[in-house]
Order: sequence, then structure tokens, then C-alpha cells
Amino acid sequence: MRKPIIAGNWKMHKTTLEAINLVNALKRELYNLENVDIVVCPPFTLLNEISEIIQESNIGLGGQDLFWEGEGAFTGEVSAKMLKDVGCSYVIIGHSERRKYFGETDETVNKKLRAALKEELIPIVCIGESLEQREEGKTFDIVKEQIVQGFKDLSAEEILKVIIAYEPIWAIGTGRTATPEQAEEVHRFIRQQISEIYNEEIASLIRIQYGGSVKVENIEELIKQEDIDGALVGGASLEADSFVEIVKRVNQ
Ligand code: PGA
Repeated sequence: MRKPIIAGNWKMHKTTLEAINLVNALKRELYNLENVDIVVCPPFTLLNEISEIIQESNIGLGGQDLFWEGEGAFTGEVSAKMLKDVGCSYVIIGHSERRKYFGETDETVNKKLRAALKEELIPIVCIGESLEQREEGKTFDIVKEQIVQGFKDLSAEEILKVIIAYEPIWAIGTGRTATPEQAEEVHRFIRQQISEIYNEEIASLIRIQYGGSVKVENIEELIKQEDIDGALVGGASLEADSFVEIVKRVNQ
């Protein structure tokens, strides 16, 4: 069975003190949960601090992005090795905000994905359509393209290490969640694509998270869906109460 995974994407939020308070509360409230993988993805500036706090806890650490080169003159960038060095086991790749504001493409996603896998980081790769694309009936085409190009030339062994996050762009930060049926429909499609490119067994093993306005009120309906294996949570991961409650509901 696929173990569900809940990851908190803090985006560009939290100073050191705020982050310490939040993660201490998570540690206190979530320490005995075993049926769910828990990850927090703070901004780069906080990774070191948080890494020390969550040592020997059941909370994993992830970066929100990386650069594909190992090292060099790339001002402002952070490598997979640096994330690993500071205690990360995960990294978000290709979030729609990075695609929209920082020019990321399926090609750069593919390069970042390889760099992450090389350092044995678990990539959380985000895919999903815009509202316009959905309304034009292009959701499946877009998602398929993102899979084919983004995961290009990945071996079976490599793809098994990847977590896919389906995040319809129109549901991110808008309060407008996809219905469980809408989300499940695309999750099932994604699994089918993986089955076609690789095989059925791999498709049945790969974990696919849903993301986009996930909150306490909708997590249970979402997680009940057969092909939804967890969530990538933005806004609701910034407060201990809501993130704890989401994780607990999934753990049950
Ligand atoms: P949201 O963000 O939960 O605030 O919609 C999700 C995400 O962007 O990963």
C-alpha cells in the first residue's frame, strides 16, 4: 500500500522565531503518528535551524527549489548537495509559482529532477493546469505533456523515487479546491500515464499528492479517493493548528 504523505509548503513565509515556534508545535503534536509521512518545506534561510529541531523526529525536511548544477558561479542559487548537507530529504520541483514567475519549464524541471535524484533527494514534482486550460478542455493534454517532458528519460528505478503533486493552478491560494471527483479524475489519469510509460506495477506504487487550497474541511474527502496519496499544503501549513489537524485526519 502507498503510505500517504503530507508536505507543508511554507513558500516565502516565516522569520526564524516564527518558524521555530511553528515547528516545535508540530513536533509536540505529531510525534506519535506513524501512518503518514510528514514533511515541511521552509524557505532556504530557515533550513538549518529547522533541521536541528526536527532531528530524530518523524518530520522530514524539504527545500522549495534547487538549481541543477553541482556548484559554481550561479549567484542566488542553491544546489542539491547543499540541501542534502543541511538535512533535507525532499525538494519541491516545478511549482506553478516558479513556472509562472521564474520561467521554469518542463525542461528545467527535468534537469532539476535529475540533480535531485543524483543526490538522493526525494523530488516532489508539481504539475497542473491553469483555469483557462481547464475551461478549454486541455487539462489532460497539459498534464500529459508535463509528465512526458518533465520525466523524460527517467529510469523505472528513478521514477519510483519521485512524488508527483497534482496542483490545479486555479485552486492554489484561491480557496477554490478541486472537488474530490475532479482531483481523482486527474490523479487516475496521471497514474494511467505512468503505467503507459513504465508499467502497471510502477503506476500502482508511485505516490500522487493533491495540492490547492487543502484545508481541515476538505482533506478527508480528498484522501478518501483511491488515487490521492496525500497533499501539498500551502496556506494551511503556516499555522500549527490547521497543519496538525490535516496530518491527524490523514493518519487515521
Ligand atoms: P495552497 O497552496 O494550499 O495555499 O493553495 C498549495 C501549493 O501551492 O502548494
